[in-house]
Amino acid sequence: MAPQQCASGKPRVLAIAGSLRQGSYNRRLLDLACQGAKAAGGEVTELDLGRYPLPLYGADLERTGLPEPARALQELVRTHDGLLIATPEYYSTLPPLLVNVLVWVSRAAAAGQACVFVDKVAGLLSASTAQTGGLRGISQLSSILGNLGAIVVPYPVGVSYAQSAFTSAGELHDKALEGRVAGVGRSVIELIQRLS
Ligand SMILES: Cc1cc2nc3c(=O)[nH]c(=O)nc-3n(C[C@H](O)[C@H](O)[C@H](O)COP(=O)(O)O)c2cc1C
Repeated sequence: MAPQQCASGKPRVLAIAGSLRQGSYNRRLLDLACQGAKAAGGEVTELDLGRYPLPLYGADLERTGLPEPARALQELVRTHDGLLIATPEYYSTLPPLLVNVLVWVSRAAAAGQACVFVDKVAGLLSASTAQTGGLRGISQLSSILGNLGAIVVPYPVGVSYAQSAFTSAGELHDKALEGRVAGVGRSVIELIQRLS
């Protein structure tokens, strides 16, 4: 779980899918956004949250110390300039997996350090099997990340009816939409470059 080291000087982006489901549409969507980030000159670390099992957050549990996976995830966020997050929405809000990860990873402040999300540039996406494209969850994610000090790029992308949106090769049938997805990745890289 050690963070990957980068000597290239390229903007570094951590890509996080809010679903562990095999065949996840959000994982596919994230891959397309990552391609946009790479094409814009970024270096992407694709995170598998399944490798970072975390207990359900509780303040009493936190007082016994941060779980090792939380420390490892904090280090990964700390050593990247930005985030790409593609997540489903569950019941119009965020899935518990992602909320739990965000809460644990945000808790560096409890140890007297700055929250690791401060000044991280974040691009957000969602794929959902409904018409709404997961944008209600994305709106809440934008709010949470803003509260944690991250800078969320405008124009998140929601993919509706994800079950029929992707080709067997993992691309989107709608090429204009695919361009907007890649654009989220590109925007993250461009904002990191402008801020540095
Ligand atoms: C518990 C649960 C709640 C859901 N709630 C919503 C919802 O509020 N809005 C929506 O668009 N899709 C909802 N869905 C459907 C998801 O969009 C769909 O399962 C999607 O494929 C999940 O993303 P994934 O393929 O990346 O796992 C829900 C699915 C589950 C399992």
